[in-house]
Amino acid sequence: MRDKIVSRLAENDTVMTPDAWEYLNDLDHSEDLSVIIDKMEEEKEELPFPVCKDTVNCFVRDVLELEEEKEDRSDEDNEIDRDIWKDIEVLKDISGESTCTGEVDDFRSYFDDRFERLRSIIRERRDGKKARPINRIEKRSGEATVIGMIRDVYTSSNDNKVLTLEDDTGEIRGFISSDSEAYNRNLLEDEVILAKGQVWDNDGSFEDTFSIEEITRPGIPKLNNKTKADFSGKIAFVGDAHVGSDTFLREEWDEFISWINSDSGAAAEIEYLVLPGDLVDGIGIFPNQEEELDIIDIYKQYQKFADLIEEIPSDITVITIPGNHDIVRNAEPQPCLPEEIQDMFPDNVLFFGNPALMEIQGLQLLLYHGTSINDLSDILPQVTSEKPITAMKEMLDRRHLVPVYGESTPIAPEEKDHLVIEDIPDIFVTGHIHRTEVSDHHGIVMVNASTWQGQTNYQEMRDIQPDPAKVIVLDPGTNNVSIRDFS
Ligand SMILES: [Fe+2]
Ligand SMILES: [Fe+2]
Repeated sequence: MRDKIVSRLAENDTVMTPDAWEYLNDLDHSEDLSVIIDKMEEEKEELPFPVCKDTVNCFVRDVLELEEEKEDRSDEDNEIDRDIWKDIEVLKDISGESTCTGEVDDFRSYFDDRFERLRSIIRERRDGKKARPINRIEKRSGEATVIGMIRDVYTSSNDNKVLTLEDDTGEIRGFISSDSEAYNRNLLEDEVILAKGQVWDNDGSFEDTFSIEEITRPGIPKLNNKTKADFSGKIAFVGDAHVGSDTFLREEWDEFISWINSDSGAAAEIEYLVLPGDLVDGIGIFPNQEEELDIIDIYKQYQKFADLIEEIPSDITVITIPGNHDIVRNAEPQPCLPEEIQDMFPDNVLFFGNPALMEIQGLQLLLYHGTSINDLSDILPQVTSEKPITAMKEMLDRRHLVPVYGESTPIAPEEKDHLVIEDIPDIFVTGHIHRTEVSDHHGIVMVNASTWQGQTNYQEMRDIQPDPAKVIVLDPGTNNVSIRDFS
C-alpha cells in the first residue's frame, strides 16, 4: 500500500507531512485510495506545502460521502424494482394459459364448464342442496327443484314465460305464470339458475310440465363491508386512456400528471393506479376510425402512451389490462399485451389479461374491461349504459362477466370458463363505457372508471355523453372514496 501511495504521489511531486502519510496509509477504505489521490492531483495547485493530515482528511471525507450517495441511490433503485409488485398476487389471468383452438367442440366443453362452475356456486345457496338432476324429476309429480342452464326463454301467447332448462342429464320445459313473483326476473339464455316449483304427473313428455314458482340465481351473499385498516396507500382508478384518438384529452391528462406528482392530499398517498383497458384507441376498431385518429400507427400510439406513463412517479404501481381497442385478440378472455409493447413501458407498469383477479395486500380486486355492459344495457330494462353499475350488479348476480352470448361481446371458447365470477371480490372495476361511477353491492366496492377521450363522432351521433377526465381514489383502509375532476 505504502509503495503505491509513494509512487502515485511522487509522479506529481506531492509532499506530505508524516502524520498525513500515516493517515492515508492506515485508511480502511483502500479501494477508494486511487480516487482520493486522483482528486488531490486534480487540485494540486491549491494544495499547501507540505500537505497536512487535515487536508488529506477533507479529500477522504468528500470521496467517501460521494460513494455513500451512490450506494443510497442504487439502493433506492433496487427498492423500486422490488416494490413494483407491492404485495400483488395474481389469482386468475388467461395470459399464457389459453387452450382455445377455435373448434366447434371447444364451445361444447366451454359451456359444460360454465354450467358446472355456476351449478357449484348455486348448490351453496338456500335450496341448492335440494336440487335434483332433471332426468330424476320429469316423470314425478309434486314439488321439484332443479339447477339448469336456460336454453331458450320466451313469452307465450297467453302471457306465460316459457323456458327450457337443461343439465347434463336432460332437459325440461317449465313455465312461469304472469302472477308469479318469478315472472319479472329478466331471464337470459345461457344463464344458470335454480328453479323450484311443481311437476305435474303426465306421460313423461317434457312439454309444459314444470310450473316454476321461485328462481334463485348464483348471486352474492350479503357481506359486511370489508375494509382493511392496515392497507398501505390508496388505489386510483384512472379509466380508458384512448391515446391516439383525436379527442384524447391531453390538457386534462397533463393536469392529472401534475396533480399525481404533487404532495397534495390524496395524490401523495396513491400507491396503485388502475387502468381497466382501452389504453390506446387502436386502429380498425370501427369503420373509418382513421379519420378520428391523431396517431394512425398502433405501435406509435403505445409508444406515446408509454411516454405519458413515464411521467407518473416511478414508485406508483400501474396496473393495466387490455380492452376492445387494444392490440390483443378481441374475444374474451383477452391475454395481456405482447412483450414488444410491454417493453416500451417503464418498470412500474404491470400488464394483466382481461379479466384478471388479483390480491393486493389481502384484498381481492377483479378487473374487467366491461365490453358486455353494452349487451346488458340493450337487453335488460333495468340496465342503462349511463349507469354502468346497474350492469355490474347483474354480472355479480349471475356470477358471470359476459352473461349474454352471441351479441356484441365475442367469447373465446376456452376449456375453462374464465368469465365466471367464482371468487367474490372486495373491489370490482370496469371501464369501457366512459362513465364515472362508484357504488357498493353487498359489501363489494364497484367502480366504473372514467376515460381520457372526449365525445367521439359516434357518441355524438347516438347522443352518448361521456364523463371524462375523472380519477376515482379509494382508501381501502376505510372504503372512503373521492373523485378528482380534471375535466
Ligand atoms: Fe373505451
Ligand atoms: Fe372499450
